[in-house]
Amino acid sequence: MNYPDHTFCIAPMMDRSDRHFRYFLRLISRHVLLYTEMITTSALIHGDWRKLLDYDVSEHPIALQLGGNDPQELAYGAGLAEQLGYDEVNINVGCPSNRVSSGSFGACLMAQPQLVAQCVNVMRRRVDLPITVKTRIGVDEQDSYEWLTRFVSTVANGGCRTFIIHARKAWLQGLSPKQNRELPPLRYDVVYRLKQDFPELEIVLNGGLSSVPQAQMQLNHVDGVMLGREVYRNPYLLATVDELFFADNTVPPSRHGVIKSYLPYIDAQLAQGVPLSRIMPHIMGLFQGLPGARGWRRELSNNPPARSLGKEIVERALLQINDQG
Ligand SMILES: Cc1cc2nc3c(=O)[nH]c(=O)nc-3n(C[C@H](O)[C@H](O)[C@H](O)COP(=O)(O)O)c2cc1C
Repeated sequence: MNYPDHTFCIAPMMDRSDRHFRYFLRLISRHVLLYTEMITTSALIHGDWRKLLDYDVSEHPIALQLGGNDPQELAYGAGLAEQLGYDEVNINVGCPSNRVSSGSFGACLMAQPQLVAQCVNVMRRRVDLPITVKTRIGVDEQDSYEWLTRFVSTVANGGCRTFIIHARKAWLQGLSPKQNRELPPLRYDVVYRLKQDFPELEIVLNGGLSSVPQAQMQLNHVDGVMLGREVYRNPYLLATVDELFFADNTVPPSRHGVIKSYLPYIDAQLAQGVPLSRIMPHIMGLFQGLPGARGWRRELSNNPPARSLGKEIVERALLQINDQG
């Protein structure tokens, strides 16, 4: 079985890490491992799974994140992922949203390590893809280190070798998902200790990483990093990642080069009926930190005249950027 390289991963983010964002990021980095936003098993069973799982071949390496708690249903989802050529299937054991908790999956699954182990086991028997778990360091009152190690060793016994750990606990009562990504304190030390105690497992650290040097330093302690919000805010930070994390010295495209390569994609998607509002938010951070970045974002958010081409909108927005390099 081929394990994709987890040295630098892009987090699953609902409504953000959809195929349009992933395609865009792949123009900046050839190597980072891209995760889909969470797709629930019931959406796959009752909805149009081909549409939900469709992606562009350039997105490889790509991991599908599933939300669910039924081993057979998760195995069904994993089977579809394998059929479509995904490189990995990840189970969401960390999302604290009410909607997800009321379906009894996401972070509340942390309280049921045996069930998570069984899910991994049944999925592994169904497919020849790595099955990984994304989780947190604790949930509600269950937040001691001993409790976490029991969770990890139980799930590892089910056949999970790679754990992505958001280094804060989840409070299921009283905190919104957004607060759950900000308020519980970050505890990188807990994730480092986990790696020391389980050297045979691959441990990927997630949560609050906001620069490439900071991410690089984590590799002294863990096997890989996963970044979410910062990549959305400032996607071009990935331009140095192929060289620094994957020893690939290919010169990355400039920001203007990235947007030029993305234009045909935008127009192809528009022609297929995808609304501009699904695509444009993803590219707003491209010029983050440069003079004119605010004007660029403003132009992209303005309602364009009906039937505008992506090219026209982007070219108008580019006039705001002073640096033409
Ligand atoms: C808008 C948004 C949507 C998210 N959706 C998911 C999701 O579908 N599945 C998941 O496991 N985590 C989800 N997360 C959590 C991220 O994957 C990540 O664990 C979290 O943002 C911490 O990493 P960061 O500080 O690098 O952003 C989401 C986060 C955000 C901001």
